[in-house]
Amino acid sequence: MTDIPAIRETLLATVAQSNAPQEVLRAPEFRKLYAQIPALPAEERGAFGQAVNELKTAIEAAVDARQAELDQVDVAPIDVTAPFDVNATRPNLLPAENGSEHPLTREMTIISDIFTRMGFVAEESREIDDQFHMFESLNFPKGHPARDDYDTFMTTQVDQNGDSFVAPAHTSTMQHRLLVQYRDMLAQGEPIAALVPDRVFRNEDLDAKHEHTFYQVEGIYVGKSINVGNLVATLQTFLEEYYGRKLNVRINPFYFPFTEPSFEFALECPFCENGCSVCSGSKWVELLGCGMIHPNVLRAANIDPAEYTGFAFGCGIDRLVMMKYQIEDIRNLESGKLDFLRQF
Ligand code: DAH
Repeated sequence: MTDIPAIRETLLATVAQSNAPQEVLRAPEFRKLYAQIPALPAEERGAFGQAVNELKTAIEAAVDARQAELDQVDVAPIDVTAPFDVNATRPNLLPAENGSEHPLTREMTIISDIFTRMGFVAEESREIDDQFHMFESLNFPKGHPARDDYDTFMTTQVDQNGDSFVAPAHTSTMQHRLLVQYRDMLAQGEPIAALVPDRVFRNEDLDAKHEHTFYQVEGIYVGKSINVGNLVATLQTFLEEYYGRKLNVRINPFYFPFTEPSFEFALECPFCENGCSVCSGSKWVELLGCGMIHPNVLRAANIDPAEYTGFAFGCGIDRLVMMKYQIEDIRNLESGKLDFLRQF
């Protein structure tokens, strides 16, 4: 009588060590077992056949388990954004025609370059921040009604003060950090001139002019005797450089908690003389918010507002870029639509 349990032990041991476990299913032991069936007395055949089948099923399961084990190779984490094939022994650059810089990224570089030439240093913002930087340090104490203008996304997780974290609704969330980081410049007789071109988030109803995710460029400039004239001249110089032509600009009074006085900065429509769709027929395009940095914002960063003054501005980059290329729908910019992107 064939000892099926013994065969089972042997085959299982072979599978466990095999690098090609499928081959065990073709082992001669199986052939021999099947060959025995017709020779058996009729009353033994059923039970024996069943035992052989059970053996086969058990070995198949072991084969699958061993194969899964072999398939689980240890792979080091790779950088999926790397511009070369990280798995090749000698990395080859991936063909550049498979991708290109996004128009917004390219324009942000152009914008930063213009400000760099004017002496600004560019810094990054962040995609999650605390309420101190988003509000308190900018002179929006808790319960301040102007907080409602920044309808942003909050986390359910809270910080040590019990406050939610926020997805920053403006790049101004970096102002306090920049003032503290560059405060020593003032003592050395140099101004603070910093720029933050980065991503911001708002809980918006989406349409051709509103996105939940967009870009802003924030600028701050602090020094001795800085005034509104410096603010207007800086922004006008930037805009004329960016659009490559002379432009008329206009400021209107406005309100922001972190500037006093605050302004809305408009530019004479670069596309028309008598009104067009970009300026909605008004010949002026409201572009950005700006003002003289509020004394409380300077004080929060340990800068004496009696000694130093400064201006700040925050401008939507998508808006600038849309005007430059006459893009009608802001949603195209974040859509990842190749038809749109290939135009740039
Ligand atoms: N943070 C403002 C906004 O997103 C824009 C702004 C206004 C920024 C005035 C400034 C400023 O730095 O001084 O609506």
